[in-house]
Amino acid sequence: MTASTLISREVERIVNGVPVTDGAGVSLLRILTQDLQRRLDPFLMLDEFRSDDPRDYIGGFPEHPHRGFQTVTYMLAGRMRHRDSAGNEGLLSSGGVQWMNAGRGLVHSELPEQEDGLMHGFQLWVNLPSSLKMSEPGYRDIPTEEIPNLTTTTGATLRVIAGESEGVKGAVQQPATEPLYLDAHLPAGACHSVAIPEDYNKFVYVYEGELRLGEHGTSVNARQMAVLANGSATNSIRLQADKPAKALIIAGRPLNEPIAQLGPFVMNTRQEVEQAVLDFRRGLF
Ligand code: CO
Repeated sequence: MTASTLISREVERIVNGVPVTDGAGVSLLRILTQDLQRRLDPFLMLDEFRSDDPRDYIGGFPEHPHRGFQTVTYMLAGRMRHRDSAGNEGLLSSGGVQWMNAGRGLVHSELPEQEDGLMHGFQLWVNLPSSLKMSEPGYRDIPTEEIPNLTTTTGATLRVIAGESEGVKGAVQQPATEPLYLDAHLPAGACHSVAIPEDYNKFVYVYEGELRLGEHGTSVNARQMAVLANGSATNSIRLQADKPAKALIIAGRPLNEPIAQLGPFVMNTRQEVEQAVLDFRRGLF
């Protein structure tokens, strides 16, 4: 990459995650909250789970439904078993990703398969266009060895989970919103610019260490999300690490459609989410 041809985006806003409890008593940090869904369209939610105290995660997420979007679970440490109403079952383990299309609806459970030790990972919700909200449900488990890596000249490593970076195609290509999902690991002193299409909404979540972002070098601490400014002539984000840092870089093409959410159902209208509740109660998922 010729960094000189890239004009870096600046940080528009820094967001601190909100501690919440979800599922059967799982402690989470909710990073992308509902009030940011419009600003970060097509992304609806980002949660981080990180604890070495089993009381924070042992209950997991027993059977629950989803309709109208996709869930992406990225496991950094630990093991989680997935089972769903379509008869799929999979084990998500360290470094692996599960990309699930809830489509018209499924019921699934996500349960930890460990009784102690560290459990650390993320769940991202990616919205679907109205034309795909009632699509066939499905899912894909991507083990860690199937996630491509790229190493930059300054020693940063990028795991390309989805989309494409510097010609390296990620494990997942999703044409509806073309999400870019990178896990960047930067050693002290590393500096790297990541190209991101101008009209995409994008954010960086630092989960370890501290980064300076953009030409202004805005400091972003661990457990903070930086929402990156949109605007013309900004086609990349510059990352600089004074000490070792790890961060998720997430971007996607906005859908610009109405968002109607009721818990695990995300449709375009209130009537459609009410229909989802009825269909679920009738056992149609
Ligand atoms: Co779920």
